[in-house]
Amino acid sequence: MSKCIAIDGPAGAGKSTIAKIVAGKLGFIYVDTGAMYRAMALYMIKNNIPKEDSEKISSTCQSADITIKYEDGAQVVYLNGENVNGLIRTEEVGNMASVSSTNGDVRKKLVELQQKLASETSVVMDGRDIGTVVLPNAELKVFLTASSRVRAERRFKELTAKGQECNLEKIEADIIERDNRDMTREISPLKQAEDAILVDSSDMTIEEVSDRIIELYKSKTC
Ligand code: DC
Repeated sequence: MSKCIAIDGPAGAGKSTIAKIVAGKLGFIYVDTGAMYRAMALYMIKNNIPKEDSEKISSTCQSADITIKYEDGAQVVYLNGENVNGLIRTEEVGNMASVSSTNGDVRKKLVELQQKLASETSVVMDGRDIGTVVLPNAELKVFLTASSRVRAERRFKELTAKGQECNLEKIEADIIERDNRDMTREISPLKQAEDAILVDSSDMTIEEVSDRIIELYKSKTC
């Protein structure tokens, strides 16, 4: 029987870094659901769909074929047959994803894909609604968070390391705005599942957080 660990939390809390390590250590597959919402957002941008046109978003998402493959152990997202991994990590796509992911038809399509993946293999899945909607029976649910300042500083370091010019205050303001949108949307808002364990990574190292999650998983399943 496949096993699942659900990791939810706001943008920049370190979910993907941690989920990848935990999956590697337990021999599970890591599923990055944010990448699926980003691929869908890229499709909306490519088709010039305005953010505020929810009817167009609903109809357009029907012709987006999003598939996930694993190549050399890493998740690769295909959008209508094209590998879009290199195109979905921009602020523009992230901002569109934050809006298009509030659409019920987009969510229905992607939640089905996520549930299918988890039924076939053991997964560590990260996102916003994994513990509450996608995998309500996950063996372990973690709500991973950190203060908005710490999350902005992490993002600032990442962008400056890539040589991109950026402003810490602006990054923090964007993070707060995205949190608000993710937490207040009508469908599947970001919230801690009742049976999820809160882990605040503000003052923890990556290793401390991943060790803690593995410890929690073992204590729940052994
Ligand atoms: O985690 P991320 O920044 O790559 O996610 C991009 C957007 O997708 C984010 O604004 C919230 C949304 N998202 C979602 O609504 N549900 C998920 N399970 C994962 C991401």
